Amino acid sequence: GIVRSYKFEIRLQNVTRLCHTKSMVTVNGKFPGPRIIAREGDNVLVKVVNHVSNNITIHWHGIRQLQSGWADGPSSITQCPIQTGQSYLYNFTITGQRGTLWWHAHISWLRATLYGPLIILPKKNVPYPFPKPHKEIPILFGEWWNADPEAVISQALQHGAGPNVSDAYTINGLPGPLYNCSEMETYTLKVKPGKTYLLRLINSALNDDLFFSIANHTLTVVEADASYIKPFETDILLITPGQTTNVLLKTKHHLGNSSTFIMAARPYFTGQGTFDNSTVAGILEYQINPNGSVFNSTFSNVSIKGLLPTLPPINGTSFVANFSNKFRSLANSQFPANVPKNVDKQYFFTVGLGSNPCPKNQTCQGPNGSKFAASINNISFNLPTTALLQSYFFGKSNGVYTTDFPSFPLMPFNYTGTPPNNTLVANGTKVVVVKFNTTIEVVLQDTSILGAESHPLHLHGHNFFVVGQGFGNFDPNQDPAKYNLVDPVERNTVGIPSGGWVAIRFQTDNPGVWLMHCHFDVHLSWGLRMAWVVLDGKLPNQKLPPPPSDLPKC
Ligand code: C2O
Repeated sequence: GIVRSYKFEIRLQNVTRLCHTKSMVTVNGKFPGPRIIAREGDNVLVKVVNHVSNNITIHWHGIRQLQSGWADGPSSITQCPIQTGQSYLYNFTITGQRGTLWWHAHISWLRATLYGPLIILPKKNVPYPFPKPHKEIPILFGEWWNADPEAVISQALQHGAGPNVSDAYTINGLPGPLYNCSEMETYTLKVKPGKTYLLRLINSALNDDLFFSIANHTLTVVEADASYIKPFETDILLITPGQTTNVLLKTKHHLGNSSTFIMAARPYFTGQGTFDNSTVAGILEYQINPNGSVFNSTFSNVSIKGLLPTLPPINGTSFVANFSNKFRSLANSQFPANVPKNVDKQYFFTVGLGSNPCPKNQTCQGPNGSKFAASINNISFNLPTTALLQSYFFGKSNGVYTTDFPSFPLMPFNYTGTPPNNTLVANGTKVVVVKFNTTIEVVLQDTSILGAESHPLHLHGHNFFVVGQGFGNFDPNQDPAKYNLVDPVERNTVGIPSGGWVAIRFQTDNPGVWLMHCHFDVHLSWGLRMAWVVLDGKLPNQKLPPPPSDLPKC
């Protein structure tokens, strides 16, 4: 591989959407941020220079970071943040991966504006296992707040409340014509007839699973989270925050009356409380004049609403279950699925919301006057003041974290029935310590304590196989017999079904400290996270190297 060097200057930039101009934190003044392109095997260097008053870290979502745990990026987990005026060189080599991933800030809610694509091409002269596309196009879904997202979350945390929802969803940073004062900010994808396009879809929204569709077009799904899958066709996709999905779009040979089609995304949501049910629309526009002059449509006279693709209902859980079941690893000789057949350690983690008592002299707007919280196995994870990885590496875990994260819930209950009266969580900074090359199975169970809700669970530093999923309570006597150990999809982010469970397996082949968390930032802020400490193996290439000299000081 070769070296790919990038410079990310974190600076303020005025950006206008929905007739609101705000000064926001950007990379190199761009929103969404710049794209990183590399090939499998390349060494990527990104120098991040912080010129703003916020503390910054950047995470390379889905990158394995084999032997480069210091470059992973989650604040307080693998590093302390880059402070104003400081810089840090993220240095990692892309090993055994190719496909669509992305990067984003990993501190507070700064990823609302700091995100971009991270595209890994196959090694030179290695083809895709699908027809070569005419063009490749990143499509990033996001959210726009007229307010500063940092103020939105800090106010919510202060009042123990649910944060204000965003003002719009976006496609490549643009809200589209269904919002007020936004027609000029519409994403338009220009295509030629009779060609195949590779759309690299990334859900970088903070808090919403999204349905996506392009009217009158069928999409072929070929890759998930930078792993090839058995291709399947669909008119509609569901993509959770953190996930990436590659689809082939075959454009029509012959157009009828229309050369313009509408694409749209809007949320899937089953939880309680307020949410944004608005729709972002974009345009698929055929360029039909071969002599260079581009067909130019004006949208003021088009009734967009009548042209919208059909999307499932907001609470379309049956579509979601059906759709996620269609993902299967390619599992052929070139791309085998190395699914762990035997398990060394089993875990059962409950995932859901709960509450913390309201501090004295404060009024809280959470359930029954409490503060909202979220937990795994009833532990709401407090961020330490120093980074876990440093504490671990230098043998100074005392007072930073404890190693008593429970493998099973301490007080089991009927997770999808009547919730328990006591919804209080425990708080702590607890980790699970595992040996190198341990095979792990985790069953992740939605608790439905404050209403059934899906949770996009993301694991750092590893991919996992999704071997089973179902609704209701996981049944340890019946459900494992139905696991798919042949061609389960390999991912880094999985939606725990609303009112159900999912079972994942992975091998701890990467020494370091690895965060696992809900990729809804509101749940993350409420503590829905934990960390795995993977110990060194015996061989030199199974050990975490010492930190780089410019690792930010705590
Ligand atoms: Cu995409 Cu821990 O994050």
